[in-house]
Amino acid sequence: MEPDLKAKYRYVLDGISQIPSLPSIVSKIIGIINNPRSNANDVVRLLEMDVGLSGKVLRLANSAYYGIPGGITSSQRAVTQLGFNAVSSIVISASVYNLFKSTEPSQAINRVAFWRHSIETAIYCRVLAGLMDRRIDPEIAFTQGMLHDIGALALDTTFPKEYLAVVDAARVAGVPLEQKEREMFGLDHHQIGARILERWSLPDVVRLPVENIHSEHSDASIREYVLVLALANSVAHSKGVVLYSSQFQEEVNLENALVKLGITQTRESLFQQFEEELEKAKLIMNLLRS
Ligand SMILES: [Fe+2]
Ligand SMILES: [Fe+2]
Repeated sequence: MEPDLKAKYRYVLDGISQIPSLPSIVSKIIGIINNPRSNANDVVRLLEMDVGLSGKVLRLANSAYYGIPGGITSSQRAVTQLGFNAVSSIVISASVYNLFKSTEPSQAINRVAFWRHSIETAIYCRVLAGLMDRRIDPEIAFTQGMLHDIGALALDTTFPKEYLAVVDAARVAGVPLEQKEREMFGLDHHQIGARILERWSLPDVVRLPVENIHSEHSDASIREYVLVLALANSVAHSKGVVLYSSQFQEEVNLENALVKLGITQTRESLFQQFEEELEKAKLIMNLLRS
């Protein structure tokens, strides 16, 4: 690596290391995900220790998005009905949102648009994964979607002036944001995001697709998660939410991607399903804010 780039790289990694850790209860839940010997009761016990968090899980579990008949009144039932990965994804999403909530308003990234884009991507990931005969886990795909651009938020929070300059430079030059990020920081927001997810001990299956969103991954078990994330991200962008001031977005060819994923739905029925799920998920945004 050339010395100049090495210095930038160090500078950005030092800055990013200031991003706080997740609350200890969330780290413990991630620890449970990473431990194959753990079981659902371990999560229930943890949730019961945090009234705020278990309240959020219950409200979301009772929302139209999950649509569990009969309603859910306890953490125990939330975990057994929704499954462990769904509950974990709610907990992780809510706490990452909280972590960045109090930051100053930014000129580079509109926070409301950022979270709307993240939730949309997460929901599309979950829909796509659900059409793949259980080859990939819809809840893990949801978590990836929620967190895939977290590196952009981290850069914006840590280096607000520099990041605004990067976003402006990408817009003026009409090039991908990632290209300008690499010039300025030595790493782009997906690579930075992956570093943060690693520091938070999120599993490889969440971290690697974020890092490799624009490339094909050599590991077959990760490759389908990458494709799902890239497609969901591209659809979310194409629907017109301008996340960065820069408008350039790399397009993913929808038909090709669906063939690769073995999804036989027509474009129309897929988009209809996306819309229905988005409608049901309105509460997620409100819940994150509460
Ligand atoms: Fe991105
Ligand atoms: Fe994105």
